[in-house]
Amino acid sequence: MTLVKTSIQEQLLQTLGAVIPASINRPVALHEPAFFGNELKYVTECIQSGWVSSVGKYVDLIEEKLCAITGAKYAVAVVNGTAALHLAYIMAGVKACDEVLVPALTFIATANAVAYCGATPHFVDSNEKDLGVCPIKLDSYLSEIAEVQNGVCINNNTGKVIRALCVTHIFGLPAQLKPLKAVCDKYHIALVEDAAEALGSYYQGEHVGHYGLCGVISFNGNKITTTGGGGALLTDDPELAKRAKHLSTTAKIPAESWEYRYDAIGYNYRMPNINAALGCAQLENLPVILETKYKLANQYRESISKIEGIEFISEPEGAQSNYWLNAVKCDFENIDERNSCLKELNSQGYGCRPVWELLCEQNVYQDNPKMNLEAAKVLATNVINLPSGYGLA
Ligand SMILES: Cc1ncc(COP(=O)(O)O)c(C=O)c1O
Repeated sequence: MTLVKTSIQEQLLQTLGAVIPASINRPVALHEPAFFGNELKYVTECIQSGWVSSVGKYVDLIEEKLCAITGAKYAVAVVNGTAALHLAYIMAGVKACDEVLVPALTFIATANAVAYCGATPHFVDSNEKDLGVCPIKLDSYLSEIAEVQNGVCINNNTGKVIRALCVTHIFGLPAQLKPLKAVCDKYHIALVEDAAEALGSYYQGEHVGHYGLCGVISFNGNKITTTGGGGALLTDDPELAKRAKHLSTTAKIPAESWEYRYDAIGYNYRMPNINAALGCAQLENLPVILETKYKLANQYRESISKIEGIEFISEPEGAQSNYWLNAVKCDFENIDERNSCLKELNSQGYGCRPVWELLCEQNVYQDNPKMNLEAAKVLATNVINLPSGYGLA
C-alpha cells in the first residue's frame, strides 16, 4: 500500500520536473493571469476617457468580440460569472420553490445562483471520462423520480417543478451536450451551460455556452482570460439577450436623462468599462494562450500516459478543451493519501490542488435532493489539478 502511495507522488513529481522547465521560478502557481498585449494601453485609454463605469465603448466591444469568438449571436457582459448564472436561471424561468439540476461536482456558484432565485439545487452525478453531468444516469434517474405534467417536469418526491439543468464544462472539458440536451427536451427542462471555465472550448465544432438556452463565461483573475472580475451571458435568443441586458442594468426604462423609471426589480450587474478594456486586450491574446495550453496539455498527457495509476483527463472525442486547468485522476486510497501527496507537491514548489468537495457535503446544501453520486464521489477523492498557467509549456 505504502509503495503505491509513494509511487503516485514520486511519478507526479517526476512528470512536473520533466514538463515544467527549470528556468521557471518555483513555486509554480496553479494558474496566473498573463498580460502581454494591449492591456495597459486600453485601460489607460479608458481612464483618460473618464468612462470607467458601466457605460463605454469597451463594454460593447467585449460583447462583439465574445460573439465573434464563441459564435453566440448575443453576449451580455456582467460583473462576474456568478451574476451571469443568476441571470441565466432567471432567463430559464427559475422561480422560488423550483428545483434546478446541478452537478454535485462543480464550483459552488453554480448552485448558489439557483438559491439566489429562491429555488433548490438538486444534485446529479458526473461521469468519470469528462467530469461533466452523465446523460445516461440522469435520464434513468429522471425516469424514476420525475414526470412531465402540463408541459413541466415534476419531481414526484417533492412535488416541485424541475425547471432547468445546468451543466458545467469542468476545467474547460466540454460536457456531453447533445445527449444532455436530448434528456432536457424529453423532460421539458431548460439547458443552461456553466462555461465559466471554458472560453475557447468546443463541442462538435461549436463553441460551448450557447448549445442550450444560454450559458455563462467567467473572467475572474484565475480564468484563461480575465477582466479582473467579470462574466458574460451567451445566447442565440434575441429576446432573452435583450431582457438579460435590461435586468443587468437595473431594469431602467430608456427615458429623458433626468427620469428614473424601472419596469422590474433589476440588478446592478453590468460590467464596468474599465474591466471590459482589460478584457478586450485579453481576448486578443486568447489564440496565443490557447496554443500554449494545448502544448502543455500534450506534454502532460504524453508523460502521464506511461504511468500506471494516474490518468490524464483528456477531452472526449469530438470535443476540444481549452485545458484551462490540467487534471489527472489518481488511484488514491482515500482523501488522506491525496492530501499528503498534494502537500508534498506544493512543498516541492508545484501549485497543485484537489477538485472541489461535493456540494451536497457543504453545510448549506446537505439536505438538498440528490441522486446516487457514485462517480462524483470517486472523482472528488481522486482528481487533482496540475500547474497550468500561460508560459509553462
Ligand atoms: C464552474 C464555475 N462556475 C462559476 C464560477 C463563478 O464565476 P465568478 O468567479 O466570475 O463569479 C466559476 C469561477 O469562479 C467557476 O469556476
